[in-house]
Amino acid sequence: MMQHAGINELMELTEAWITPELESVFGQDISDDITVKAACYSLFAGGKRIRPMMMRLTSGMIGLDERIDADVRYFAATLEMIHTYSLIHDDLPAMDNDELRRGKPTCHMVYGEGIATLAGDLLLNTAMERLFKICEKNPGYLFAASRMAENAGAYGMIGGQSIDIASTDKEISVELLTELQEKKTGALIEASVVTPYYLAKKLTREEALKDETAGDLRKLASHIGLAFQIQDDILDVISDSVTLGKSTGKDERDSKATFVTLMGLEGAKERLGNEISGIKHILAGFADKGLETADYETFADFLENRNR
Ligand code: IPE
Ligand code: IPE
Ligand code: MG
Ligand code: MG
Ligand code: MG
Repeated sequence: MMQHAGINELMELTEAWITPELESVFGQDISDDITVKAACYSLFAGGKRIRPMMMRLTSGMIGLDERIDADVRYFAATLEMIHTYSLIHDDLPAMDNDELRRGKPTCHMVYGEGIATLAGDLLLNTAMERLFKICEKNPGYLFAASRMAENAGAYGMIGGQSIDIASTDKEISVELLTELQEKKTGALIEASVVTPYYLAKKLTREEALKDETAGDLRKLASHIGLAFQIQDDILDVISDSVTLGKSTGKDERDSKATFVTLMGLEGAKERLGNEISGIKHILAGFADKGLETADYETFADFLENRNR
């Protein structure tokens, strides 16, 4: 029987795959700039790289042509920059006011709020530059690129962060909480799961909406996004800052709307279980079509049991 990789091996492979691409983002000529230094501090602080990992998992599952692996990696690094910017800003005193991230002092603790704000802006702007640049060379990637930008915006991550702030200190419905989480976390996860397929097929917006596999990948991403954020909410309560690499107990203290604050630890765990079942159901459908889903199954188990 074929040996499949465990989650640690998948993480190591992802790290080796994405690091050189991230290292090449900012030129040597600007490496002394303080904002570039701050951006690199957060970019290489030790994130789990689960978004690049999902890009690899989808590529592996759909049997992507190896010739476009470099382009998938380019998009994966771009998304990791958007994700890192979202964390730098999320940690600012005006937002979650956190002092620990990825096991290290947050960007603003080291570089000050002004430079940390600029570092986030720089990562987002550089991500957008990269999306434009690859489309100049390959117009077939236009939808994948514009969709990634959309997923980071008002209908995606920023929209979710906006509801998150507006819901603080309020009792909100499960429907609104679900929308909050689908946007703030789910949208960038959707980009991770589906982008390799959009790239491989060079889909237009119209085609992407009609394509059955793309639709199934978006459903898979939706369950993964919720599972990931619900476990993030659970870990804020049950984990400790050394294991997690970020401070804990903050959601309760800051009266945040989360699955745990709304339905309790047991309720949140039950909902997490439902999302994991949803993931497995969609993977079973892919397996029935002959796709290789073993690594995604390993990842699903990680989502349910992760402690960081
Ligand atoms: C943290 O994301 C923020 C959420 C969306 C829950 P990750 O847990 O992926 O953070 P890093 O990249 O590993 O630090
Ligand atoms: C933030 O959610 C998700 C982002 C879009 C950055 P949280 O505020 O729960 O993330 P952590 O717990 O600080 O990583
Ligand atoms: Mg937050
Ligand atoms: Mg936060
Ligand atoms: Mg959290």
